[in-house]
Amino acid sequence: MSEKMIEFRHVKKAYGDSVIIPDLSFSVEKGDFVTMIGSSGCGKTTTLKMVNALIEPTAGDIFVEGTNIRERDPVQLRRSIGYAIQGSVLFPNMTVEQNIAYVPNLLHKKDRNRTAQAVDKWMKIVGLDPALKERYPNELSGGQQQRVGIARALAASPQILLMDEPFGAVDEITRSSLQDEIMRIHRETHITVLFVTHDIQEALKLATKVFIMDHGEIQQYDTPVHILRHPANEFVEKLVRRERHTCFLSEDRVGGCEFSGAACGLRLPEGDAAR
Ligand SMILES: Nc1ncnc2c1ncn2[C@@H]1O[C@H](COP(=O)(O)OP(=O)(O)OP(=O)(O)O)[C@@H](O)[C@H]1O
Ligand SMILES: [Mg+2]
Repeated sequence: MSEKMIEFRHVKKAYGDSVIIPDLSFSVEKGDFVTMIGSSGCGKTTTLKMVNALIEPTAGDIFVEGTNIRERDPVQLRRSIGYAIQGSVLFPNMTVEQNIAYVPNLLHKKDRNRTAQAVDKWMKIVGLDPALKERYPNELSGGQQQRVGIARALAASPQILLMDEPFGAVDEITRSSLQDEIMRIHRETHITVLFVTHDIQEALKLATKVFIMDHGEIQQYDTPVHILRHPANEFVEKLVRRERHTCFLSEDRVGGCEFSGAACGLRLPEGDAAR
């Protein structure tokens, strides 16, 4: 049975008279990789920050792993959820090792060994040379800083990972390798991911489901293949037009989505490749 890891029920967010999110209801199932995309200022970051209680909703309820987050201690909630954002938000006066060990140290105060193991494991998984452990953030490249940020978000083995344009500030090659790594991490750990991006190709490549937002409202929330095949409205159609063209062209040629899926780097749902 599917399990809801995140659920919004009639969530509203307003700043004074300005309503950012009028009435948002959706859920993210365990093991989903949801990418959120939409115009600038439409409320993506606001939505993400409401999940880990960095922003409080004006009305409505948010459930994380079945519990209303109003009933949870916000600090504890935040420590239990991985959070990675664009650019370097590393502690500048801590080494790479200390940055990654930060949350595990808070959670397992006495078990230094366990923390050291977690640091080694995650540095390896995100593709960081162990020789970088003693470096400070300002002695790293942008891509390396981004990897440390991801390792830090994952080091406490959270069940949920929130990422807000985490690959926004890196070059194309680094971006592509970070995308591959996050997909591998997702496959291997079955972690539930909510990932904000501006890049439709990235959104379609990474997601099991894409959440398309405009003016704080869901425009479409579905699998990448379904969104490409059946855009729900003009907003979605415009957003995916170019990708759709590429995918459908090859789909028509091979009479299935297997080839087009591979061409777009899409993850195909079970059974879809054979159709
Ligand atoms: N503290 C605040 N007070 C008033 N308005 C705010 C505040 N924080 C955010 N907003 C407004 O809320 C809206 C949504 O902001 P949000 O950061 O969620 O957008 P976004 O979808 O993440 O945009 P982007 O793609 O540019 O990051 C914006 O119009 C923003 O100006
Ligand atoms: Mg944002």
